[in-house]
Amino acid sequence: MKVRAVYPGSFDPITNGHVYIAERAAAIFDEVIVSILINERKQGSFSVSERCEMARASLSHVSNIRVDSFNGLLVDYVKQCDAGVIVRGLRAMSDFEYEFQMALMNRKLAPEIETFFIVTDPKYSYVSSSSVREIFHFGGSVRDVVPDVVFEKLRERYRDA
Ligand code: PNS
Repeated sequence: MKVRAVYPGSFDPITNGHVYIAERAAAIFDEVIVSILINERKQGSFSVSERCEMARASLSHVSNIRVDSFNGLLVDYVKQCDAGVIVRGLRAMSDFEYEFQMALMNRKLAPEIETFFIVTDPKYSYVSSSSVREIFHFGGSVRDVVPDVVFEKLRERYRDA
């Protein structure tokens, strides 16, 4: 039986930390759907289509990963995809409380869906999409922590502003 997993998130933008988690997940599960939340209540820095485009380009080297977007409840989307697993990355203990609460809430909503945590590589433990945006905006180097396509997009977005 094939096991399909959903790796959900904001991915605003995707970082090398996200790519690492997606690659590890793809080595475990038959198919991984990296899915970007369409959040009507929160305007992101990049549009959902820009985020999808960056994620697709960053993950095109992994054949069993596809990129999608979703709105509404994550568990409903996971069921629609006929997936049984939610993948989330953990960078530090500080992530754990939020992730644990979310996993328990999702379990309450859909007990048949499993949340699967993957620990990041220590070299990405401090990398977040928000810090990437801020560091880049103030002229710091993010070259090593984002895929090339994201670096170019950040240049367009912030340097031209
Ligand atoms: O990258 P993020 O912002 O930490 O991802 C959070 C995300 C998208 C996984 C979470 O906000 C989510 O699943 N939202 C969809 C709505 C939902 O199902 N909420 C209940 C989860 S407790």
